[in-house]
Order: sequence, then structure tokens, then C-alpha cells
Amino acid sequence: MNAPISNDLLARLPRASILATGSYVPERVLTNADLEKMVDTTDEWIMTRTGIRERHIARTDEATSDMATEAARRALAAAGVAPEELDMIIVATITPDMGFPNTACFVQSNIGAVNAFCYDIEAACSGFVYGLDLARQYIATGSAKTILLIGAEKISCITDWTDRSLCVLFGDGAGAAVLRAEPNRKGILSAVMRSDGRLHDLLKLPGGGSRNPASAETLAGGLHFMKMNGRDVFKHAVTCMTDVARKALDQAGLTVEDVKLIIPHQANLRIVSAIGERLGGKPEQYFVNLDRYGNTSAASVILALDEAVRMGKLERGDRVLLVAFGGGFTWGASVLEW
Ligand code: ACO
Repeated sequence: MNAPISNDLLARLPRASILATGSYVPERVLTNADLEKMVDTTDEWIMTRTGIRERHIARTDEATSDMATEAARRALAAAGVAPEELDMIIVATITPDMGFPNTACFVQSNIGAVNAFCYDIEAACSGFVYGLDLARQYIATGSAKTILLIGAEKISCITDWTDRSLCVLFGDGAGAAVLRAEPNRKGILSAVMRSDGRLHDLLKLPGGGSRNPASAETLAGGLHFMKMNGRDVFKHAVTCMTDVARKALDQAGLTVEDVKLIIPHQANLRIVSAIGERLGGKPEQYFVNLDRYGNTSAASVILALDEAVRMGKLERGDRVLLVAFGGGFTWGASVLEW
């Protein structure tokens, strides 16, 4: 439980701000019309159930760290920060390049961030929002001054392209943020994180880990592909994201009217609409780009935030609410002053 006392303490310590963001999506676009040729589906079904029109798919020789590296380079350039200035690199992902080394180490090597220590976190689609909370704690305690936080996924490599209920939902991509304490900026105002491991079975990648190590049997059984109970995920995603968004606003002493933009995890337009009905605010406060990227898991919130910034939707001093939900289940929300 994120007790208010710890947040009072955090408020008096150096506060992490996002200096700049960057993102990258692979060149190849897979449209609903393309999917119609691959599985028994229609553009109409996908649009009405999800709001997704197209998604980007990585090349076979393009790994998560390659996308993460490009997003990182763009974020560092936008921030005017040199790779050597980074103390820490965090990559949030469920599709690391390999079991180990961690994906953040590959990014470190690619960009030459020789002074950083690096690791990955795994909180499924909540990964970026979880990582933001982690980064703010390192900055608050002074353990790290400048942090590169990345959400990056190659979901296409854990997708069963013959399963129409899943393959229409996801896409690949990466987003990055450079964080540092800026004396005249408030930065991250609140953060509330939650998990419920009892619901682990509803959304998972069962094969390839220590429970079901890769074997001819796991391969034949398709255990290396993501599994999901869509209806249950939908219900929990709506209630959990609404609840945690309210808590993050409360913790910041704000209401939904006080934030310029709400950036929910980009899984499904119906989930975003259902959150909007419960949380309130105006439709134009809710930023959506899932129509063009699909669900990019840990990359989704930062891909959307970066796009919102580049579209000029956020000015310094505006407040933005980020909220995410994913496998585990994990969910979290954070309010930032931009
Ligand atoms: N094209 C056509 N028909 C399909 C497709 C498809 N791509 N996929 C499923 N169907 C069929 C089903 O087979 C079923 O047919 P039946 O009634 O003959 O059995 C019918 O459509 C209805 O299927 P449902 O699963 O009940 O459809 P639902 O309205 O629940 O929508 C969806 C499915 C879109 C997956 C929805 O449950 C959902 O969005 N859930 C949230 C999942 C999600 O976003 N997960 C992402 C990971 S977690 C996260 O990021 C939050």
C-alpha cells in the first residue's frame, strides 16, 4: 500500500520530471484488411470490438532492444542529454531480447551509456507506469540523477498468428523518457501501484520459463504464445484502472477536471470509453492512438505520451494522468505536472 506518509516524504525530496520523450515503431504496417487474409475476421469486427485499425510489426531481425535503442536516441536528443550522463536505464518489457542479459544492457551498449547501471522490469502492460514510480524513488533518494526509462515490446513474437481472438489486438513499438529532478518543476505528483497475483491465470505467456521450459512439447502445445481470457481481462481492466486513477488523483489533491490529458493504456477503445464513463472528464481529455498502433503492452502509455507531446497537446505546467493495467494482474496510475 502506498501510504500517504511516504508520499509526503517523497514530496520533500528531489522530484523526478520527464525532460523529454521519444518513440519508435517499426516500418511495416499490418492493417485489418491484411488480417482478413490471414484469419477468419473482418475489419468491421475488429473496429467495433477494439477500435484498432492497424498496428506496426517488427522485422524478424529487429529485436526489442533495437526498437528501444531508437526510441532512446530520440528521447535523449529531445532532452539534450548525452548517453554518458545517464546513471540508470530501465526497460519495461515482457518480450526481452533473451532470458539474459537484460534488454537495458543491450540498449546501454548500443547508445554508449557507459556510466549507467541497467535492468529490466516486467509488469506486462503496466510496465512503463511501474517504471516511472521506480525512477521517481531513485531520483528522490539521490541514488540516480538522470534515468532513461523505456517501454518496448515485440509482441508479434509471442502472438499466435492463427488465433483470431488475439492476433488482431497487438502491435510492436517502443517509447522512452529521460527523467531528472528539475528544481523549478514539480514533475511526478503522485503514483499508486497495485497487483493481484491471484488472477495470474487470466493473461499469461506460459512457456519458456522455469514452469514450462522450452521443449518440443511446449512448442507443439503453443505455450510460447500469449493466452488470455478476454472478457475477464476487459472487466478487471475497467474497474482497476478507474479505481487507481481516482486514487492517484486523490493523492495529488486533484480532480479529473484539473488534468489536461488522461493517457490510459491503449488496449481497446471500449475499455477507454468505459473508464471515461466512470471516471468522468470530457472525451477530449482522453488521448487515444490505439487505432494506429494496437496494444503495444509496456510501450503503449509512453508511445501515446510521446505522440501527445509531439502533437502539442501538453504544455509545461499542464497536468497529465497516466493509467495502465496488465497481466499479473498489475495496474497503476501516476499524475505528472508536465
Ligand atoms: N474476428 C471475428 N470474430 C472473432 C474474433 C475476430 N478477430 N475474435 C473473436 N471472435 C469471435 C469469437 O470466436 C466469438 O464467437 P462465438 O460467439 O461464435 O463464440 C465472438 O467473436 C465473441 O467473442 P468474445 O471473446 O466474447 O468477444 P468480446 O466482445 O469479449 O471481445 C475482446 C473480445 C476484443 C478480446 C475483448 O474481450 C477485449 O477487448 N478484452 C480485453 C482484452 C485486452 O485488451 N487484452 C489486452 C491485454 S491486457 C491489457 O492490455 C489490458
